[in-house]
Formats: sequence, C-alpha cells, structure tokens
Amino acid sequence: MKKLLLILLLTLFSATHSIAQAADIERGKQLWQQSYQGKAPYQQRSCESCHGRNLTKAGKHVKTNKVIKAMALSVNPTRYSDSKKVKKWFYRNCKWTMGRVCNAQEQADILAYLKSL
Ligand code: HEC
Repeated sequence: MKKLLLILLLTLFSATHSIAQAADIERGKQLWQQSYQGKAPYQQRSCESCHGRNLTKAGKHVKTNKVIKAMALSVNPTRYSDSKKVKKWFYRNCKWTMGRVCNAQEQADILAYLKSL
C-alpha cells in the first residue's frame, strides 16, 4: 500500500514538474533545419538562410552577403567558446529566424547538434 502511494505521488510530481531533459542532437537538428514563416522579402527563414546547408563550410549572410565562418565545431574549434557571444547570437538569430526567442532547452539542443558536426 505504501509503495502504491509512493508511485502515485511520484507520478503526480513528474506530471506537474517539468524535469529538465538532456540535450538532444536530433531535436537540435530539426530546429536548425526547419523553415519558419517571416515577412517579405525573407518569407522562408531557417538557420540555414545565413549559415548554409553544409555546416563544415562557410555560410553567407542572406541580407549583407557577408561570409560567415563554418559552424561545425570540428572545422572551427573556436566556436561556442565565448558564452556571451553564444547568448547574443541565439537571441538575435532566433528572433529573426523564428520570430521568437529560443528557450534554454532549445539552445542546448541546437548547441549539441552544432558541436556534434
Ligand atoms: C540573418 C542571418 C543569420 C541567420 C538566419 C542565423 N544566423 Fe546565426 N549568426 C549570424 C551571424 C552574422 C553570426 C556571427 C558571426 C559568426 O559567428 O561567424 C552568427 C552566429 C551564431 C552563433 C554564435 C556562434 C559562436 O561562435 O559563438 C550561434 C549560436 C548562432 N549563430 C545560431 C543561430 C541559430 C540557432 C539560427 C537559427 C535559429 C541562426 N543562427 C540563424 C547570422 C545568422
């Protein structure tokens, strides 16, 4: 009986408290590649709009045409080493691309994906 009560309490607890999940590479990849609706002239937006399809190669800024160095950590080892920079660009780029900020879980998932490349 006591055991049953404990299980019941645990179930209730996990249903009402969102337990932080580990970073998920697949989910990060999905967020990265997904297309989001934006205003003209950039109606279809994704992280690839500026960073390109192949993340081991340089990308090109969709508005300024400026070259953006490769995002894959394997070819650009200085990536994601400055947490201020990471924070700043997550804020800016999620807003522009998705029309909203990315939450902590999404940022962790995307970073896990980029670091896996
Ligand atoms: C409009 C162009 C543009 C789009 C779209 C874009 N980015 Fe970026 N991103 C940049 C630029 C410019 C930089 C800074 C230059 C650099 O780090 O080489 C940058 C840098 C970053 C960085 C920092 C990398 C580091 O070394 O710390 C992260 C993280 C990032 N972007 C994530 C994203 C994510 C996630 C998306 C999609 C939601 C996205 N970007 C879409 C232009 C863009």
